[in-house]
Amino acid sequence: MARMSNLEDDIFSDLSKYEARAMHGQLPVVWDKAEGATVTDISGNTWIDLTSTIFVANTGHAHPKVLSALRSVLDKPLLHTYTFTHEFRRNFLKKLIESTPEYFEKAFLLSAGTEATECAIKLSRMYGINIRKDKKAIISFRGAMHGRTLGAEMLKGDPKSEEWIGYMDPNIHHLEFPFPNKGRPSFESDIDKLLNLKKLDPKNITAIFIESYIGWGAIFFPKAYVQAIEKFAKENDILLVFDEIQSGIGRTGKFFAYEHYGVTPDLVCFGKGISSGPPLSGVIGSAKILDIPETGSMSSTHSANPLSCAAGLATLEIVEQEKLVDQARHKGNVLHSELNRIRDRFSDHISYIFGKGLVAAIITQNKEGVPDKELATKICNYCKSHGVLLVHTGRESIKIGPPLIISEEMLRKAILIIEEAFRIMCEE
Ligand SMILES: Cc1ncc(COP(=O)(O)O)c(C=O)c1O
Repeated sequence: MARMSNLEDDIFSDLSKYEARAMHGQLPVVWDKAEGATVTDISGNTWIDLTSTIFVANTGHAHPKVLSALRSVLDKPLLHTYTFTHEFRRNFLKKLIESTPEYFEKAFLLSAGTEATECAIKLSRMYGINIRKDKKAIISFRGAMHGRTLGAEMLKGDPKSEEWIGYMDPNIHHLEFPFPNKGRPSFESDIDKLLNLKKLDPKNITAIFIESYIGWGAIFFPKAYVQAIEKFAKENDILLVFDEIQSGIGRTGKFFAYEHYGVTPDLVCFGKGISSGPPLSGVIGSAKILDIPETGSMSSTHSANPLSCAAGLATLEIVEQEKLVDQARHKGNVLHSELNRIRDRFSDHISYIFGKGLVAAIITQNKEGVPDKELATKICNYCKSHGVLLVHTGRESIKIGPPLIISEEMLRKAILIIEEAFRIMCEE
């Protein structure tokens, strides 16, 4: 059982006094150190980390090569250059373009994932209106997570966001996500209904945004559904934009998760795991699209910070040298077969196991088959008290996303603790 010290009590009480509560929400652990797949708090308690700090530490926490890359920048010293350039920026971008498919020719670098979304929205709009002035509609999926800034919130199509924003972009339209319990999905019929409802000409659509899997539940689209989206997009000169901010950099057993669908995107947003810690995000695509905005017209103060770029290069090298994509696939097989075994054991309380590779979500339900978010919270709390950190989504899902370097032994140990949590919560 984890101990809590006076210092932790003080920190939590000061945070509740000084920090906006919208920043709270995760389990109460004051991180002190994180290495490999382990987190230590300021009282010396340790946890197996199944969060990767929300899908950032794909290479493991504080990988020695990332630390040494950061030190090489600090020791120069060089902390910031604004739009002046530096060699780390060239090195990272060159490696990124060379290690991704040839249809990605250029990238735009930013800091937060949500900025990458905004950048992709702007590129999509500029692409469309350059073809014809009415080509500016964007289609996205209701409930997808693309970030917290205005454009990203509008893509989500959540009525709660509309309340505080005060309006919705009339050129953003939403499709419902084809959840597996909603019958046989057909993109053709979904898009037909939307076009009729909104009196929308497909020629006026400029982009379709896809979160590679629905974040809260790690739920992938049916492959045929995404292939039908691609066909429709190609027929109507519409950009296919994938949000890989969470799903990218090896997480799902492919470098980018869109590869599972056998399609070719025009733009991909990346972030989180790309730099193993320091803020780095971006959009990658063809030169034709990336070079639409004028020189200097999309600058951002912290873009391509030397520390972030050095960490980004080290991350790409680690992914390649340690074959992290294969590691995610192999250990993902262990994770998913074990979670499905647990699902079979507690089938009254677990409706689905979703995900691929080293991302998974356990979807909880009560005996009446109703989503059970209290159970999900109890499991997360039990695991936190017994040495395992899980992603607490605040809804009926428990998300699991360990660093891709986690040992199979550690992964199995963590899974047994999750199973024990279900035994205690469901059988007692
Ligand atoms: C799929 C996806 N897109 C965008 C974002 C936003 O990224 P950031 O929090 O870095 O702005 C997130 C963050 O959770 C995400 O999961």
